[in-house]
Amino acid sequence: MNLFLLILAKGKELSMKIGNLRVNGQRLKLTLEEMGRIGGTPAGGMHRLALTDEDRKARDLFLKWLREINLEVLVDEVGNIFGKRPGKNPDLPPVLTGSHLDTQPQGGRFDGVLGVMGALEVLRTLQEGRVETERSVMIVNWTNEEGTRFTPAMLGSGVWAGVFDRDWAYSRSDILGKRFGDELERIGYRGKKGPKRGPIQAYYEFHIEQGPVLEKMGKTIGLPKGILGIGWYDVLVEGEGNQAGPTPMEGRKDALCAAAEMILKVNELPARMGGEMVATVGEIHNLPNSRNIIPDRVRFTLDVRSWDHKLVSQATKEVRKDFLRISEKRGCRVKMEEIWRIRPTVFGAALVKKVEEVASHLGYSQHRMISGAGHDAAYVSQVSPTAMIFVPSVGGRSHVEVENTRWEDCEAGANVLLHCVLQSATG
Ligand code: HGY
Ligand code: MN
Ligand code: MN
Repeated sequence: MNLFLLILAKGKELSMKIGNLRVNGQRLKLTLEEMGRIGGTPAGGMHRLALTDEDRKARDLFLKWLREINLEVLVDEVGNIFGKRPGKNPDLPPVLTGSHLDTQPQGGRFDGVLGVMGALEVLRTLQEGRVETERSVMIVNWTNEEGTRFTPAMLGSGVWAGVFDRDWAYSRSDILGKRFGDELERIGYRGKKGPKRGPIQAYYEFHIEQGPVLEKMGKTIGLPKGILGIGWYDVLVEGEGNQAGPTPMEGRKDALCAAAEMILKVNELPARMGGEMVATVGEIHNLPNSRNIIPDRVRFTLDVRSWDHKLVSQATKEVRKDFLRISEKRGCRVKMEEIWRIRPTVFGAALVKKVEEVASHLGYSQHRMISGAGHDAAYVSQVSPTAMIFVPSVGGRSHVEVENTRWEDCEAGANVLLHCVLQSATG
């Protein structure tokens, strides 16, 4: 057979081999279960807050796994962990994929971690299949995606993308006054300069949907066209503490009653604003929180989200007016501070289409949608073509200990991730 035909046959054989490549679903399941034992709760959920000892242990295990498949490891200045599998042409912009290992206080076993372990499974599969890619493939674990211990959310990817200043991130403190920078130092993950934020060929983030849509529609792969815009606010209500017994009801300045009225106004807000938004009070601190003292200070959080950036601004203006009216009526002072705003994120249509084509080629049903949950992909999309791969959440539940996704859906999503990464790394 002449050389030309031989090369052709070889090339055909190689593309057949790559085309038939699939992840090892059992290994992905075992990896998720092992990672889930770090910070796992008795009820089967997760408690692994950013920069805690549990987060350190998860990071140590992640690094061990990266080194086992000979990746070049980098930890950047805000603790983002990168693992690089060099391609044949290391000067080309790499393909990046990953998510986050930090969780909510009573979170689920899949939020974030599926995207990091799914990316690890893809790299293990490439290693096993001795697949050589044109471009390097990089995996990432972003620091502090959840924003529940240190606000705002997505601090790690936000610094990497140039949205937040590194020292500002270091200055963020948790409810006990512990600083982000000190905690990063304490757990040993305050790295040197990470990869300069260079050009990235494509970023794929594999994640659970965290909502009811895919399950309701009976679809396996979700294709978010983007992510809702988000506004986070802290509200402080100050009244007048007093003894619960002798103080007449008339004339009380009860901060908790004022806050309660305000919180109900938040709940009514989406309907009042025409419905295309959600609004939540998730955290509340009542002080001094003693059964026989009239509360004098209440701090609560406000989370407002919509695909329409202007609607979030209008809604928060409206609710601020409500708060002022209630504070006047009840003789309490109120302060509302904006903590974080991020505009709605729109992913590049071409990469979303690529994910759709890969999913359909692999025989998985798909559905285009919008992500109600925030993701690191929002900030990465400001510096790189970006797309996400969703898989269904059982019962549409997430950020709860019962969060669950079927193993076959985890495997399906990881296969879509594998072939998206392969296409972008060889194309
Ligand atoms: O808030 C969110 O949607 C994400 O979990 N940080
Ligand atoms: Mn997440
Ligand atoms: Mn989350």
